[in-house]
Amino acid sequence: MRSLIDISELSVGEIEALIDKAEAIMESPADYADKCRGRKLATLFFEPSTRTRLSFEAAMYELGGNVLGFSESQSSSAAKGESVADTARTVSCYADIIAMRHPKEGAPLVASVNASVPVINAGDGGHNHPTQTLTDLLTIEREKGRLTDLTVGICGDLKFGRTVHSLISALSRYEGVRFILISPAELKIPGYVRDGVLKKNSVPFEETTDLDGSIASLDVLYMTRVQRERFFNEEDYLRLRDSYILTAAKMGAAKSDMTVMHPLPRVNEIAYEIDSDPRAAYFRQVMYGKFIRMALILKLLEIE
Ligand code: NCD
Repeated sequence: MRSLIDISELSVGEIEALIDKAEAIMESPADYADKCRGRKLATLFFEPSTRTRLSFEAAMYELGGNVLGFSESQSSSAAKGESVADTARTVSCYADIIAMRHPKEGAPLVASVNASVPVINAGDGGHNHPTQTLTDLLTIEREKGRLTDLTVGICGDLKFGRTVHSLISALSRYEGVRFILISPAELKIPGYVRDGVLKKNSVPFEETTDLDGSIASLDVLYMTRVQRERFFNEEDYLRLRDSYILTAAKMGAAKSDMTVMHPLPRVNEIAYEIDSDPRAAYFRQVMYGKFIRMALILKLLEIE
């Protein structure tokens, strides 16, 4: 039995196999329509979500399986004080696999130690979000045709943005990837990523506050939302939330084939006028998220 808590638990070869499987499913979805017949996925979401939860649920339905779960902690026994460990033990009696999102860093790990079925981390606090990263890798592969030799700009809330931490961890393992990390000084990448991932693996990176000055060099621009729910006070959020807004004028300086990504939800970081630009990949990214989660469910349930 295997869970997915941190993206580094998957080897580069396993990620490649998941991408291949997702592409095979996209080619002929009918071949996969019964693969999970009789199996159940539990989605335990203690934090808001649109894409992650619904894409997991859609993925399981498209595999012929069923779904149960809750979408807010207040409607579960967590509201009565039940521990994550006990919730995980309980849900293991009802479901074959669990996807869990939780505001506390490490909660899905605790669940995985206590569950008797695989647990997928669907986002833990400001820490990690491995299935968004699988989605992002599939998107880059589809849009650029490669995961190597890329200059990747990541812009916005690099401190609290969990998708950023997992994405850097994954892409750092590919040859020729360099990062331009664009954020306000207060929202820089945490030390455990800067030192523990980038420096440790001698991955080239720059930290800057300047989007305009860096956009021309980028192959991929990954925009992120300022993570309001992780701030200690509203004033700081209000001061920082509009630090970067990608507009058509700014896109004028970018490469003609630069890919614009965003894990979504977008608040104000990407002007709506960009949506019709062929370089805007964020809604294609949403679509890829369902297929890579289908591939992941099959892998963790050990279904060929
Ligand atoms: C992200 C998340 O929840 O971390 N959303 C998602 O899963 N696609 C990004 C965000 O909320 O900003």
